[in-house]
Amino acid sequence: MKLAVVGGGSTYTPELIDGFARLRDTLPIEELVLVDPALDRLELVGGLARRIFAKQGHPGRVTTTDDLDAGVEGADAVLLQLRVGGQAARGEDETWPLECGCVGQETTGAGGLAKALRTVPVVLDIAERVRRANPDAWIIDFTNPVGIVTRALLQAGHKAVGLCNVAIGFQRRFAGMLGVTAADVHLDHVGLNHLTWETGVRLGGPEGENVLPKLLAEHGDTLADTLRMPSDILDRLGVVPSYYLRYFYAHDEVVRELGTKPSRAAEVAEMERELLKMYGDPELDEKPALLAKRGGAYYSEAAVDLAASLLGGGGSRYQVVNTYNRGTLPFLPDDAVIEVQASVGHAGATPLPVAPVDPLYAGLMANVTAYEDLALEAALRGGRERVFRALLAHPLVGQYAYAEGLTDRLIAHNREHLAWA
Ligand code: G6P
Ligand code: MN
Repeated sequence: MKLAVVGGGSTYTPELIDGFARLRDTLPIEELVLVDPALDRLELVGGLARRIFAKQGHPGRVTTTDDLDAGVEGADAVLLQLRVGGQAARGEDETWPLECGCVGQETTGAGGLAKALRTVPVVLDIAERVRRANPDAWIIDFTNPVGIVTRALLQAGHKAVGLCNVAIGFQRRFAGMLGVTAADVHLDHVGLNHLTWETGVRLGGPEGENVLPKLLAEHGDTLADTLRMPSDILDRLGVVPSYYLRYFYAHDEVVRELGTKPSRAAEVAEMERELLKMYGDPELDEKPALLAKRGGAYYSEAAVDLAASLLGGGGSRYQVVNTYNRGTLPFLPDDAVIEVQASVGHAGATPLPVAPVDPLYAGLMANVTAYEDLALEAALRGGRERVFRALLAHPLVGQYAYAEGLTDRLIAHNREHLAWA
């Protein structure tokens, strides 16, 4: 089995490698190719990747290249984890929306739109080249914004599944609180990428007992602390929103906070400098603890599980993924991309049925789906007016004066990445 990771020079890659090494029985990789245009990073990350495999006795070969077409040749699955414009572009996404009184975030609101506009054309070009090299290859997309990027891939007819670590993070967390193994926890996870709610926590599988009320009663305060939401809100909702919902439920509070501290991009850039220094140490042969300070916890486990199932191996029967709605949430179009539990196999992901969704959540999902639709239009076809329409549709923008100011800034800050601007 051959896997390629596009964006393989990411500082996150050792997390993935560690997962591949530990879970080698689930996913027996013979060759892992790290593909990245940044050869200096690639060399550091590739060196550490080889040492991690060697230390853990993984027989697979790790190779590196900046040649995408050669790298994906013969790959059974290609993982996309790239960031167009790097942390510098992310830093801008997190900053200029604040000038308009709006949240500055890499996947949500105006910053998320900027990222989508930069990213969709690049990902589609890569996917086309993957398809040319091997039409049977699966594309696993972690590249944000995952919902919009996955929709772009599926619309262009690619064999793609979108992945995020929010669900697996909750699964592991709840398992710890309940004193059971992670595999025993089945989440009723519903929504769009980075706009999800855990509406049930079941033991043993989709038909298992729902222990969410008990979990909230016993651990609601701890959960609320981590999510930075008031615990009485969790009690009253009776569900667990993902931490990305804080950008909606506490928008103004978040904007005030963001105005008083360095951006997450600046923090991450600093961590990346330290990490790369560590990766260059020939004695280092495991992922450093510092990596745990990034948001990507457990993402390697989710990726191994998904790749194993798609490639016909032994992944979990049900996994939370991003895929076409196709009637699962009847209030959304069939071609919306949703993030829900799905049964995953050789033929791809099929969402499990979802119980009727409370209008409190369904309304926001429908609104953000409409935004994602317009965002994808803007990413594919360009033009100031399309950017404006997407922003006006976004529930965190909504007013034309904000949408105008954000549109101007988005274009001004991203000109070098937008072919049409
Ligand atoms: C979580 C999200 C990812 C996001 C990451 C950011 O893992 O699910 O989609 O990319 O956080 O983490 P960072 O360390 O870059 O802030
Ligand atoms: Mn994510």
